[in-house]
Amino acid sequence: MAEKKNKGYLSGREIRAIAKANAKEIKRLEAYKNRKADESEFITEMKNDANILEIDGLHTYFFTEQGVVKAVNGVSYEVPKNATVGVVGESGCGKSVTSMSVMRLIQGPQGQICEGSIRFKFHDDETGEDKVYDIAKMPQSEIYRLRGKQISMIFQEPMTSLNPVFTIGEQLDEVTFIHTKGATKESAKARSLEMLELVGIAMPERVYKSFPHELSGGMRQRVMIAMSLICNPRLIIADEPTTALDVTIQAQILDLLRDLKTKIDGSILLITHDLGVIAEMADYVVVMYAGRVIERGTADEIFHDPRHPYTKGLQKSKPTLDSDGETLFNIPGNVPNPVNMPNHCYFKERCHECRACCSGEYPKMVQVSPTHFVACHLYSEEVSDNG
Ligand SMILES: Nc1ncnc2c1ncn2[C@@H]1O[C@H](COP(=O)(O)OP(=O)(O)O)[C@@H](O)[C@H]1O
Ligand code: SF4
Ligand SMILES: [Mg+2]
Repeated sequence: MAEKKNKGYLSGREIRAIAKANAKEIKRLEAYKNRKADESEFITEMKNDANILEIDGLHTYFFTEQGVVKAVNGVSYEVPKNATVGVVGESGCGKSVTSMSVMRLIQGPQGQICEGSIRFKFHDDETGEDKVYDIAKMPQSEIYRLRGKQISMIFQEPMTSLNPVFTIGEQLDEVTFIHTKGATKESAKARSLEMLELVGIAMPERVYKSFPHELSGGMRQRVMIAMSLICNPRLIIADEPTTALDVTIQAQILDLLRDLKTKIDGSILLITHDLGVIAEMADYVVVMYAGRVIERGTADEIFHDPRHPYTKGLQKSKPTLDSDGETLFNIPGNVPNPVNMPNHCYFKERCHECRACCSGEYPKMVQVSPTHFVACHLYSEEVSDNG
């Protein structure tokens, strides 16, 4: 793209050039999503059969008037079967856009999955067999098969996900009707009540008959969790599930999620900006920064042997009893502009351990243990070879 003449402003010519380039890319990607495709085009294999989800080199962009926002810029991580994976990072680093890509809920035409694979172990109810689908390659018309039954999502603000004009019971039953062949009114209600009980609601019949506004925030989030469990999904994505709740209720919901992990035969992908939540819940941790994964490993590795200067900084900035809660991310400096990402480590301007070689290419992901990976020049061979 042409050099900007006025810092911070785009000329009319530049704006037109961006619009033209955007329109071309959007047209191509929309056509790909809306194509008719045989299953053979998106069936694939897992790299590791112990995983339920493998995100591999994912790029999800927003084509805006100012340019392309690379919200997810080459993200790779995996979710093993029956494990909880926590994804952590500052607000705006691409955690939600990654998970919305898995659900194929990215708002088009501006937002598009542009590159990469999202391999998911899909259970085919009709044949009873397991298949691996690449969600990124599935045509839009097939996506309904994934949601609810295979993957379900718990959002931050339950009030926006519940319909105010229907009772909780009607909304829970509806999920069974959509996804279960031959469901009756009685069987749907029985399942709804069972799930309400499972999420610790003491008077399920009463909640079943209530409208969303009659319940507290914590109760509504329990209802959302019950809803996400109705179809026995293999993967639950919980995006900031406790952020909108006050501290005591937060603790209760986390207890519930932890408890559920042992009761359900599935995996949880837990997204949060709060390292404390991750510490309580996760088996594996993925640390994201500016649209990329900068470190990932087991919870033990990330908490007891963090390698990336950003991960170390995050841990130092964990709130304590006497902090005000606003200083969770008190690492000085800003995340670079998402439209014009630099061609070097994105953390460089904020990094205390920056060296001469950090001005070079973006650091490659280096493996420091069978399960621990870090993208930082401090660990790349060139640096360690020279001491
Ligand atoms: N609809 C949109 N249009 C343009 N940019 C967007 C849109 N939605 C998200 N983004 C960009 O994607 C980045 C990642 O967002 P998100 O995944 O929601 O962050 P978080 O890590 O807080 O969940 C944001 O910084 C924002 O710049
Ligand atoms: S690559 Fe360099 S600048 Fe980036 S985090 Fe590592 S040490 Fe810091
Ligand atoms: Mg988010």
